[in-house]
Order: sequence, then C-alpha cells, then structure tokens
Amino acid sequence: MAFYKRHNTGDLMSRITEDVSKVRTYLGPAVLYGINLVTLFVMVIYAMFSVSWELTLYSLAPLPILSLSIYYVSDLINKRSTVIQQQLAHLNSIAQEVYSGIRVVKSYVQERFMGKHFAQQSEVYKEKALRLAKVDAMFFPLMMLMIGASTVITVYIGGLQVVSGKITTGNIAEFVIYVNMLTWPVTSIGWIASIVQQAAASQRRINEFLQTEPDIKSPVHDPHPLQGNIVFDNVTFDYPDTGIRAMDKVSFSLRSGEKMAVIGRTGSGKSSMADLLVRMYDVSEGAILLDGKDVREMDLANLRQRIGYVPQDVFLFSDSVANNIAFGNPVATWSEIQSFARHAAVYDDIVDLSEGFETMVGERGVTLSGGQKQRLSIARALIKHPDIVILDDCLSAVDTNTEKMILGYLEEELASKTAIIITHRIYSLLQFDKIIVLEHGRIVEEGTHDELIEHGGYYADLFERQRSEDEVDAE
Ligand SMILES: Nc1ncnc2c1ncn2[C@@H]1O[C@H](COP(=O)(O)OP(=O)(O)O)[C@@H](O)[C@H]1O
Ligand SMILES: [Mg+2]
Repeated sequence: MAFYKRHNTGDLMSRITEDVSKVRTYLGPAVLYGINLVTLFVMVIYAMFSVSWELTLYSLAPLPILSLSIYYVSDLINKRSTVIQQQLAHLNSIAQEVYSGIRVVKSYVQERFMGKHFAQQSEVYKEKALRLAKVDAMFFPLMMLMIGASTVITVYIGGLQVVSGKITTGNIAEFVIYVNMLTWPVTSIGWIASIVQQAAASQRRINEFLQTEPDIKSPVHDPHPLQGNIVFDNVTFDYPDTGIRAMDKVSFSLRSGEKMAVIGRTGSGKSSMADLLVRMYDVSEGAILLDGKDVREMDLANLRQRIGYVPQDVFLFSDSVANNIAFGNPVATWSEIQSFARHAAVYDDIVDLSEGFETMVGERGVTLSGGQKQRLSIARALIKHPDIVILDDCLSAVDTNTEKMILGYLEEELASKTAIIITHRIYSLLQFDKIIVLEHGRIVEEGTHDELIEHGGYYADLFERQRSEDEVDAE
C-alpha cells in the first residue's frame, strides 16, 4: 500500500507502456541495425583498403562527423519528443478528469473555464510540437550534406590519384558506391547511440520497480481457518512517508465470536486499525496477534482470505453485478450469489436493473448509488465465508430501514464470527460485547453500551444526539 501511495497511477502506467516500449525499440531495431552495420563495415572497408588506403581515409573522413551530428540531432529529437509525450499525457488527463467529473464541472458552471484551460494546454502542446518539427527539418538536409561532401571529396582526391596514375577512373566509381553503401549504417550509429541511451534510462526506471522488495511479505505458506481471537498489544502505527501517527498505543482483545464496535470522529484512526489487521501495513511498535500468533508470522494470503473486509471506499470493477459479488469467491454458485445479495439487502435493487445480475456496472454500464455499491461490497465480502468480518463504515449511505435489514441478517450470520464494525452511528440493534471510542489514534473510551452511557463521554453524547434525531425522523 505504501508503494502505491508513493507511485501514482500515471507514473505506474507510463513505466508499463512508454518505458517498456522504449526498451523494446532498443531490443528490436537497434540490435538489428547494429548487426547490419558491423557486417557491412567490415566488408566494405576491407574492399576499399584493398584498392587505396589513402583514398579510403579521405572519403571516410566526413563520416564520423556525420555520425556525431546525427547522434546530437537524434538526441535532441528524442528529448523533445519526450516533452511532447508528457504534454500529451497531461492533455489526456485533463480531458479524462473533466469527463469523469462532468457532473461537478456542470453544476459549478465551469465548462467554459475548463475549455479555456484545455485550449491553453493545447497551445503549449503546439509550441512544443513546433520545436520538434524544427529539429526534424534539419535532419535530412544535414545527412544529405555530409553524404554529398563525402562524394565530392572522393571524386576530387580520386581525380588527383588517377592523374598521378595510382588508380583507375573505374576505382573512383567503385568508391562512390562504397561511400553510399556506408552512409546509412553510419547515420544509424548516431541514431542507435541515442536510442540506447534512452533505453538505458527507461530500463533503469523499470528495474526500480522490478527490484522493489515488497514491504509486506508472507514468511510461511500455511493455510488454515482462523478461530478469531484478536489481540492488539500496545500497537503504535506511523504512516510511512508522511509520518502521521494513526495508532497510538492501542491495546484490546477480542475472543472468538465476540463483536466490537469502533467509534470515533473522522481521522481518529478507525480505517487504519482495519488496514493493520489485514496487514496492508505493518505496525511500527507493538504487535497484533491472531489466535495467539503475530500476524507478521502468518501466511499473508490465508490471513486476507479468511478475513472479510469491507473497506470504507467501495470499489467495483467494470463487470457484471454477479461477477462483482463473486469476486470474493470465484467458485461461488449462482444461488450463493443470489442469497448473499439478499443478505446484504441489495437483491431487490439488482432484479430491478435492466439485466438483473448480468447488468454491467461502472464506466461501461449503470451507475449504482452509493448505498447500492456499499451493499454489493458487503455481499462480496460475506460470500468468501470469512472467519473474521470487518465492516468499515459501510452502512453510511444506506437508509435506516435497509440498515435494519442488514444488521438483522448480520446478527444471525455473524453469530459465531468475530466481527469489528466501524461506524459513526450507534446500532442499538446489534449487541456488542465491546465498544471502543478512538480519538487521535488513542482509545479514549472502552466498555459495553451500558458502561459507556454511564461514563457520559463521547459515546453517551453521540447516543443522545442520535436518539433525538431518530425521534425527529419518526415524527
Ligand atoms: N494512506 C495514508 N497515508 C498517510 N496518512 C494517512 C493515510 N490514511 C490515513 N492517514 C491519516 O491517518 C489518520 C487516521 O486516518 P483514518 O484511519 O482514515 O481515520 P478514520 O477512518 O477514523 O476516519 C488521519 O490523520 C489521516 O490523515
Ligand atoms: Mg475511515
């Protein structure tokens, strides 16, 4: 997770597509032309030397200059193309953001402004493209000039040698042909040199990723069911990179089958606690024990497989509703998919869609409401038949009646499972064995419902406020 925070999607994508394609150009054309060049050089120069070494040196003299200047020009072209590529990527991302955020753009009447912004950036793109065109325009004339110079020198020096009787006029014609045979390969030396440099830079960027060791590694392969005893032992956690302390000496324990509610303001560390339990990150100090074993010593895939975690920000794939639910369990049967949709109180919503469970969601299909997405992701987590369930604020966009249905089912389904339910509402329907209130990553209140009401802190306040709101709703 820390890795994906450090490298944004754009960076990842450009390494996968552009850098890989640069290395590919090196491996293909550059290697091919390189071999061609060496072979041709050896043969042609041997033939030239066998006629006259003096004329050979004269007629080849401009070629290194040609090679060198092509190298500089190619390099310039590559650099300017990269700048253009970046600007194009920038233009693409502006367009993409505007289209995906079109609702916001329209409701703030920012179409014209965004249009102008796009036009400005297009103008920048044009200027950069023109700078490249200028270099491009130099390329061919420069090459022609050098080849021409070679030919002129060959004819002139060759003429002098014919006069002094060293070679025949036929040799001059022969040399002109040789020189012409060599110009392309010599041109490509410059070009190859520039490509190789680019490819090397790209390969370095690719290697950085290939050689990155995951921070979170699985030490063993040992799949087995979890009983669900959870212990947080003095857990402290600072986010890597930002150093924000999200957990501060948190300790609690849950026995198998117990239910715990975690309550607290936004930013109090609730989601971080859930992430730590499924080892998205490792704790900075202290330890998290599952069934008496440190999570860092457990089979990572098994750990995540056995925990049904519904994260706070729901993500659905651009795929059918059924496949989105079955994502949690690829061997799920059709009837399982349907029954878990019922458990998550989303069945009726699904059958109302045009193609029911086959309806596509996301970019290429229907847009579901926030509450529908939340319920789909609950179904997706439960269909895994997890041993431990963590729900992170996943009923926030669900109305009170639906909430009751889901909680009623959870009560049944979760009876034997350890569950951590993160919420900013108090669910009086569910009987919690323990409730903790977090603030700035610390546990500030802990106990059962009655104890916390008695205590008269944040929880009691929240309960009171919620009750008066519910009364208003009921009226
Ligand atoms: N990926 C992250 N990188 C750095 N800091 C983070 C990250 N996620 C959350 N935080 C910070 O950690 C603290 C706790 O956040 P979080 O666990 O999301 O709280 P909650 O779920 O209670 O709203 C906040 O101060 C937040 O800014
Ligand atoms: Mg959160």
